[in-house]
Amino acid sequence: MKPTVSVLVPAAGSGRRLGRGPKALVKVGGRTLLEWVLAAFSWADEVLVALPAGVTPPGGGARYLEGGAERQESVARLLERAGGDVVLVHDAARPFVVPEVVERLLAAVGRGGAAVPVAEVPDTLIEPAEGRYGRAHDRHRYALVQTPQAFFREVLAEAHQLARARGTLATDEAQLVQALGYPVELVAGDRRMFKVTYPEDLVLAEALARTWRPGAAG
Ligand code: CTP
Ligand code: MG
Repeated sequence: MKPTVSVLVPAAGSGRRLGRGPKALVKVGGRTLLEWVLAAFSWADEVLVALPAGVTPPGGGARYLEGGAERQESVARLLERAGGDVVLVHDAARPFVVPEVVERLLAAVGRGGAAVPVAEVPDTLIEPAEGRYGRAHDRHRYALVQTPQAFFREVLAEAHQLARARGTLATDEAQLVQALGYPVELVAGDRRMFKVTYPEDLVLAEALARTWRPGAAG
């Protein structure tokens, strides 16, 4: 039988680097970032969204709860309420979800229980040392990690339990799953799945929104 899919959307951040927020409610192309994400996952069995305290749930077919102080806590709260065989954790700050990437993730998660999309590092990568150039790293040895990240729900739940017991705080779920000793498969991501982080990212997002049609997958 086809596994059921829960989409968990951490959307409780403040948007400090963007300089306005809550970021999930900032609009591009006439829709909020969150609305773009909800449209992309309309095929899922359930969608759960963590919002900042005091924000009125906008509807749109999702279930809403209050997020935590850290992204990881927001995801932990979403996970407690999820019921799917597979969970896809996706940042509200990434409005453009490429269906082919989701297809690759769902295929990979079925094989091993954990899969994340990665993109190439476009620039030269260095480790500045006291304000000077420091060590240059071979960018081909590194990758940028995107979302959605796909896991068997039970694997991610165990990873969160371990993180809580150890007091680990990570910027994504894959780190927690890997800390369990679980292999995380990489699939090709897509640069259009960038995270809206800084004000200039909105300019690019506006341009993409002009032609973007949230597609089906799953
Ligand atoms: N997030 C969350 N709960 C938090 C912090 C972040 O649900 N306590 C979510 C954000 O809403 C976002 C995703 O995690 O969809 C990625 O976080 P990020 O891009 O860092 O967003 P913000 O934390 O809002 O931005 P900033 O760090 O610039 O304040
Ligand atoms: Mg943040």
